[in-house]
Amino acid sequence: MKPGDVLFTADQIARRVAELAAEIRRDAAERPLTILAILHGSVVFLADLLKHLGSAVHVELIEASSYRGGTASSGQVILSRYGQLDLAGRDVLILDDIVDTGHTLAAVRKTVEAMGPRSVRTCVLLDKPSRRKVAMDIDYCGFEVPDVFVVGYGLDYAGRYRDLPHVARLEGADD
Ligand code: IMP
Ligand code: MG
Repeated sequence: MKPGDVLFTADQIARRVAELAAEIRRDAAERPLTILAILHGSVVFLADLLKHLGSAVHVELIEASSYRGGTASSGQVILSRYGQLDLAGRDVLILDDIVDTGHTLAAVRKTVEAMGPRSVRTCVLLDKPSRRKVAMDIDYCGFEVPDVFVVGYGLDYAGRYRDLPHVARLEGADD
């Protein structure tokens, strides 16, 4: 399997990321914001978003895995690397590359809410609403994608293709 049709070019993504950052800044209304980015898929999105957000932003990381190297979520989400995390009283923005079934965001959100934050919002670059299993409010979404497996701009297939500057369909995954 290899990357095929480009769904979103680097320029389209850059423009949309700037728009999302403007919305996030406006809604934060000068209050400090804590971005909790979900590893590893969100790292490219996080880096680009940060450049537009100004200095009142804290960055925290959490790792989530459910794929085990394939293209379908196992539904069982394992969270790790967040031992020191304390989000009590914080305005938290959970950031991920894509929301598919919703299991990952739901698991992270539950963990965050147990820490007593002041508020919790969610932001994803991509939303695949046709495959949702868990109802999930997305506050900021870059683009909707159809039910195809995508790679690039941080999104991987078995650890590959995160380096692509655009988002492409993974050829052979859905046909
Ligand atoms: P969910 O738990 O099913 O919503 O899946 C979310 C996670 O699965 C995301 O954090 C991604 O890492 C991964 N994922 C879902 N769809 C895709 C895709 O099309 N390409 C690459 N990764 C994906
Ligand atoms: Mg992920």
